[in-house]
Amino acid sequence: MNNQKNPKTRLSTVIQAKHLSKKLATTENEELLILDDINLSVTQNESVAITGASGSGKTTLLGLLAGLDLPSNGEVCLLGTELSTLNEDQRANLRLGQVGFVFQSFHLMDNLTALENVMLPLELENSSKNIRQKGLAALEQVGLEKRSTHRPGQLSGGEQQRVALARAFVSQPAILFADEPTGNLDRKTGEEIIALLFTMQQLNNTTLVLVTHDDSLAKRCQAHYRLVDGKISQ
Ligand SMILES: Nc1ncnc2c1ncn2[C@@H]1O[C@H](COP(=O)(O)OP(=O)(O)OP(=O)(O)O)[C@@H](O)[C@H]1O
Ligand SMILES: [Mg+2]
Repeated sequence: MNNQKNPKTRLSTVIQAKHLSKKLATTENEELLILDDINLSVTQNESVAITGASGSGKTTLLGLLAGLDLPSNGEVCLLGTELSTLNEDQRANLRLGQVGFVFQSFHLMDNLTALENVMLPLELENSSKNIRQKGLAALEQVGLEKRSTHRPGQLSGGEQQRVALARAFVSQPAILFADEPTGNLDRKTGEEIIALLFTMQQLNNTTLVLVTHDDSLAKRCQAHYRLVDGKISQ
């Protein structure tokens, strides 16, 4: 993929979380401690898996690392910027073109075609040129160039996730956060998606932070962290 954009921030440490905690009030007097003093460092181009039981805080942690949500305590430094120094719009701007997401439930826009879905992040960036060509090239990378005019409802689950991968990688993000990207797919399709995910990660020199229930998948990543009772361990 030929990306004409300005060079991206490429740092040796792309995510640094220090003493992160997340508490949520459940009733007036009670709080739930979801994440407890998490320290985590992710370097450029690394692949990192986070595993843990359902409810252990994996999605919450991903949201904090990406600046979608704010911690109760602690700090996240994302691509060299302390997220606590930014407001919501500034955090969104930092993510734009630099951070991609893939979710369990695909999160495609139902009323847009596959190509339009893939082009969306580039359109939001404003500065991107040759958006259509880049979108088509990304669809080609996931083997769906012939389905560019189809809407998500006309695609299988695996195909929808391939469109979501094309959308996530079209801006050649520095970091990709993937939250159980194979959770809604059968085993074989899930394996194909994971193979594609790792291929695209390498092609685009992207740092990958992958949340999964699947230990065998986690072992394929360079680092593997486990969340238990709000604490993280390697
Ligand atoms: N907005 C909220 N209000 C109250 N509790 C919440 C909220 N968001 C998350 N939680 C709780 O925080 C805990 C962690 O949730 P989270 O979604 O991060 O878990 P998870 O590890 O991603 O689980 P799963 O594997 O099922 O996706 C759960 O107990 C959940 O119920
Ligand atoms: Mg989750």
